[in-house]
Amino acid sequence: MPNHHQQQAQQQATGPNQRVAVDLTKAYRLLNHGPTVLVSAAHNGRRNVMAAAWNMPLDFNPPKVAVVIDKQTYTRTLIEASGEFVLSVPPVALVHQVVAAGNQTGRDAPDKFEACGLMAAPASMVGAPLVEGCVAWLECKVLPEPAMAEHYDLFLAEVVAAWADPAVFSEGRWHIAHDAQRSLHHVAGGAFFATGQPVQA
Ligand SMILES: Cc1cc2nc3c(=O)[nH]c(=O)nc-3n(C[C@H](O)[C@H](O)[C@H](O)COP(=O)(O)O)c2cc1C
Repeated sequence: MPNHHQQQAQQQATGPNQRVAVDLTKAYRLLNHGPTVLVSAAHNGRRNVMAAAWNMPLDFNPPKVAVVIDKQTYTRTLIEASGEFVLSVPPVALVHQVVAAGNQTGRDAPDKFEACGLMAAPASMVGAPLVEGCVAWLECKVLPEPAMAEHYDLFLAEVVAAWADPAVFSEGRWHIAHDAQRSLHHVAGGAFFATGQPVQA
């Protein structure tokens, strides 16, 4: 039976949560520790979501990101059609949904969010949805680099809005108090590390 604090943490990590805008010059800090993310996209009344471990911040101001999106993914079809995507940083509490989003395609599914037990929320600057229950979000507009996408499946994008759950990130710093709120770091085959102890040099 989870105790009161665990229940609170679980609720914090999985239910509709608060979002506070992150200063764009600090947006890189949402990805700098290397979390696996959920990539979401939408176009023409369709939406989709997939897992992506191969992502990184690319610049401070204006902030940019890089993410590998395989040609076979339906998410890529929607990103190429819309020129937009959202990176959401899922916590440990969503590990099963992350694995589900990373192991099935939404191409022929009525709605992959529902299929994976994920909820979407509207973004502020892009048509792609945010993923509820995550701890941070980056709204991104693709910087077209067709050769890079073709040769390396690599997408670059500018971050046009960034958000974080103030329970775990505020004033440019992570302050994670509960295990269920830690972000995920993929190793392989559904094995992850959770973000560990802070170390201040
Ligand atoms: C933990 C995890 C990390 C993944 N990271 C990536 C990644 O960085 N890039 C990628 O193209 N696919 C990655 N995948 C695979 C996609 O998420 C997978 O192909 C997904 O089914 C695509 O879904 P879609 O066709 O609905 O877009 C990952 C899968 C898992 C489980």
